[in-house]
Amino acid sequence: MQVKVAKSAGFCFGVQRAVDTVYEQVAHGKKPIYTYGPIIHNEVVVQDLEAKGVRVINNKEELSRITEGTVIIRSHGVGKDIYDLIEKQGLICVDATCPFVKKIHRTVEKESRAGRQIVIIGNDRHPEVEGIKGWCRTKAYVVESATQAEEFMPEEQVPLCIVSQTTFNYKKFKDLVEILDKKSYDRIVVNTICNATEERQTEARRIAKEVDVMIVIGGSHSSNTQKLFEICRKECKATYYIQTVHDLDLDVLQSTGLIGITAGASTPQKIIEEVQTRCQS
Ligand code: F3S
Repeated sequence: MQVKVAKSAGFCFGVQRAVDTVYEQVAHGKKPIYTYGPIIHNEVVVQDLEAKGVRVINNKEELSRITEGTVIIRSHGVGKDIYDLIEKQGLICVDATCPFVKKIHRTVEKESRAGRQIVIIGNDRHPEVEGIKGWCRTKAYVVESATQAEEFMPEEQVPLCIVSQTTFNYKKFKDLVEILDKKSYDRIVVNTICNATEERQTEARRIAKEVDVMIVIGGSHSSNTQKLFEICRKECKATYYIQTVHDLDLDVLQSTGLIGITAGASTPQKIIEEVQTRCQS
């Protein structure tokens, strides 16, 4: 059986880097090892790390009770106050913030220091946005919808700097910037959207068009996997959503010519490989 696996399946560069960092610290870092928030939304990975002694810190309060070991910052990044607290507690900080997110931190810090009011286009409850806000010298505004953009009133005569959450939809970003454009004469817009998600979707669509059966791997609550499934289903009726190799229905694959495989952003490479091997056996 012929199998085609999407190159962009699974972890993006930033998440892969963060997960690798945790395993490196497990091997060589100063114990105990903590991650600030779960390193990834994948139970298999988090449980495996837990078994290796990695603990998750859920908030600042918990962090302020820890006085020994290493704290790893995940790819979403955190605000400056968390770095300060890690230092104050005498802990080792290992920063696995995705470089694309780090770039946003540097931009908002610089521009807010220079007197610009920061507008973040994104979801206010998302940890990444929380972290970006934590690098702004002045109060940042978060805009997620057209209504919020309409309602936004910049302080008079204050120039703006508009950035985006990395995973925000590009079209929506453009629409919101258009609304915000009318609010200030002096504004800079920095498109900080990362194209990892879009690349994964584009490749999945292309492969689904070519194959007889398409397999999409990911957690049952993963919204990005759900989206991948919908995209593939449009191109290939025989698209299957599975979580692990155990969900694979071998009967379906029996007389199939070409099988395509893709996976959501929090699916480890190991699971993708297991599915690939099973399809080829
Ligand atoms: Fe991933 Fe970094 Fe982009 S974490 S989605 S590569 S911003």
